[in-house]
Amino acid sequence: MQDEATIDEDYYDLLARLGVPYFHWGGMRATDRLASLCRIDAGKMVLVVGCGTGYSACHIAEKYRCRVVGIDISEGLVEQARERAEAQNISDRVAFRVADAHDLPFDDDGFDAVITEFVTIFLEKPRALREYVRVLRPGGQVGVNELYKSEDVPRDAEELISEAEAGFEDVVGLPIVLPTLRRWEGWFRDAGMEDIRQEEVDYTYGVREYAKAVGGWADTLKLTLWSIHRMIFDKRMKKIFGQVGKMKDVFMKNKKTKQYVGAMLLVGRKP
Ligand SMILES: C[S@@+](CC[C@H](N)C(=O)[O-])C[C@H]1O[C@@H](n2cnc3c(N)ncnc32)[C@H](O)[C@@H]1O
Repeated sequence: MQDEATIDEDYYDLLARLGVPYFHWGGMRATDRLASLCRIDAGKMVLVVGCGTGYSACHIAEKYRCRVVGIDISEGLVEQARERAEAQNISDRVAFRVADAHDLPFDDDGFDAVITEFVTIFLEKPRALREYVRVLRPGGQVGVNELYKSEDVPRDAEELISEAEAGFEDVVGLPIVLPTLRRWEGWFRDAGMEDIRQEEVDYTYGVREYAKAVGGWADTLKLTLWSIHRMIFDKRMKKIFGQVGKMKDVFMKNKKTKQYVGAMLLVGRKP
């Protein structure tokens, strides 16, 4: 049973129902860069792990004319992803199903690329990464967009980062502890990958891109007003948004901490 302060439906499900289309840093610019690093093009077979509302999966299928399978642990999000593919008329090339990233329901060697954005940070990394590699054909690429922290975080900044991580887990229910880049690379190597490359996600997306993804300016305004309304009138939501807001502040804005936290694209090849 969930704690009173934890939302009784999945946090990302709730946001998705409100119209938030995706939850990773760098928006579609980061997704396109990941697709390019993973050499995705027409005819390729791509697995998107933790696909959420299917925004990136549909974007990749449409732009690169490849076939995509998206999986997510949340039934609600998978349903939304299917609706998105239907609305975009690409259901013949994109399929979604409910599955756990730790135990992928696919045979070995079936995909040319595995893409995953802001998901593996919540998982048992060695186990999940081994699964990504297992389902790839030899020569295929794993590409992740994930958070990391520097090796040399001073003690006061480390304390603020740890508090923010614990606060997020407390209200959202997903464990998060930022690994260092070296740690991420170690997990990639241990999972059997080679030719490991890394790039910083140092770009943000503008309001215009976000509004387009939400469905237009009117929907963006509706979403903003709804969030403000819930923040004011619903104590539980206030606590949840407050904690998540604190984490975003520590990761993105706070002068003491933000230079030690980043997002990166990490790509590796199955030998
Ligand atoms: C931060 S959201 C990112 C969603 C999407 N990748 C995006 O960029 O918008 C994290 C996602 O991971 C999914 N997730 C969490 N644990 C999972 C698991 N064990 N297997 C598959 N998906 C999982 C959640 O349901 C959610 O959709």
